[in-house]
Amino acid sequence: MALYCVISAGGAPGATTTALGLALTWPGKVLLAECDPAGRRVLSGFMADRLKGPAGPGLLGLAMAVQANPNGAAAALEEYTLPLTQDGEARLLHGIHDPRQVRQLARLWRPLADTFMAQDGDVIADLGRVGGAETPVGLLEAADVVVMVLRPTLGQVDAALPRLEVLREVVGEGAQIRLCLIDDGAYSAAEVQRVLGHPITAELPCSPPDARVLSDGAAPRLTFNASLLMRGLETMGRRVRKAAEEAGRADASSEETDTAAQAVQPSPAAAASAGGGR
Ligand SMILES: Nc1ncnc2c1ncn2[C@@H]1O[C@H](COP(=O)(O)OP(=O)(O)O)[C@@H](O)[C@H]1O
Ligand SMILES: [Mg+2]
Repeated sequence: MALYCVISAGGAPGATTTALGLALTWPGKVLLAECDPAGRRVLSGFMADRLKGPAGPGLLGLAMAVQANPNGAAAALEEYTLPLTQDGEARLLHGIHDPRQVRQLARLWRPLADTFMAQDGDVIADLGRVGGAETPVGLLEAADVVVMVLRPTLGQVDAALPRLEVLREVVGEGAQIRLCLIDDGAYSAAEVQRVLGHPITAELPCSPPDARVLSDGAAPRLTFNASLLMRGLETMGRRVRKAAEEAGRADASSEETDTAAQAVQPSPAAAASAGGGR
């Protein structure tokens, strides 16, 4: 499986909408994990009229289970999730309700990431705006691909630049960083890519009626499933999965390099007997 983190630089560009749309168009088993420190959004939006029973404890409950038993929580993960689609292949781990609860999660993001990675199926984690003290860094460190969603406006590009610089230092060696543009701004994709220095993996149409189905649970038009937005999200999914494969390859080659480097280094015992310390 792979961990995909969807982030923004602020300004509500559509990170949650995009993460949910990816999950709904994903082939096979996928978990949408709402990890935005600002709180959950899908239960009161897309799921408002779709929820059949109690929502359950969601992310906070899982985090407590992870704290109690870091190695056992993956097996029980499904108990904390809800089906997003009828076939149950896409599931939702709903986020915190009260932003004050984020303090309880602060040291648990990394074990949560490990739990996500220990189950089968991909995970799309919606982290919301990054850059604040509450940013779930433990998830970013473990991500295979991080996608920043933004609109091509001066304000969003300006906010994105320093956050992407920090992100490069935070994410793992092979992790891939991608941009997703919601086509609602003055700048072209080429200009944004040049200024921000990361590949644009998708240019999604700005389509408020279709986006509101995802963000607010609005009634879908007959053409919703075949809409430019949903088709764009499907294509974006294919591209980010390809990026995750590249991340896997980069990880594997850095492991190979490490092994090769170890092979030419003396063992600790040999170094010690030769008078070398560590
Ligand atoms: N592709 C899109 N086209 C038009 N409106 C969009 C699109 N994606 C999101 N939106 C709208 O933008 C607003 C913010 O979306 P949301 O996903 O909650 O943003 P964020 O998670 O970044 O704060 C919502 O009203 C949503 O309907
Ligand atoms: Mg959001």
